[in-house]
Amino acid sequence: MLKSTGVKKTNIAVFISGTGTNLKNLIKHSLKKRSKFKIKLVVSNNSNAKGLEYIKKFKIKKKIINYKNLTNSEIHIVNYLNKENINIICLAGFMRILTANFIKKFKGKIINIHPSLLPKYKGLNTHQRALDNKEKYSGCTVHFVNSKLDAGKIILQKKVKIFKNDTSEKLSKRILKHEHLLYPKALEILISSL
Ligand code: GRF
Repeated sequence: MLKSTGVKKTNIAVFISGTGTNLKNLIKHSLKKRSKFKIKLVVSNNSNAKGLEYIKKFKIKKKIINYKNLTNSEIHIVNYLNKENINIICLAGFMRILTANFIKKFKGKIINIHPSLLPKYKGLNTHQRALDNKEKYSGCTVHFVNSKLDAGKIILQKKVKIFKNDTSEKLSKRILKHEHLLYPKALEILISSL
């Protein structure tokens, strides 16, 4: 689609499972005049995901995937993605593992945001693990998704200081603010490289 600014927007699908603050933030960025992307589709494995409420007013399409049958679910997702001409998939708090087959189909086009300084603290419970290990810094990372958990090539990373009185909750809130700055930046870098 060509906008009046002459900027051709890249079509994005965002996959979520929960709160969706990163989704909300990506939508906000997508609405800026100079933004290079448009959120066309939101996919969720959770019909109660809070993030889904937010997209209503923007008339963004949503697809709820029943993950009981993984292969069927992914066949449906691929159909939706193709129908909407999706170029890039952004995982944002998506709590399901995608199959190697799916990842292969969209090689180099799926990115994720993770709340740690990867390669440290892959997986869940990152903030508590960083605190338990008395780390001085944690942070967030946007990376490509490959078939290994949180192990794809890093696009951008932001270091965040850990304070003496930090709790997992405090640290997670502080890092989330940085996630909201990092994700759109990383996405625009990827788009410019395509
Ligand atoms: C974020 O911390 C993200 O890094 C992780 O899941 C959380 C999702 O938060 N993958 P939200 O749903 O975007 O608010």
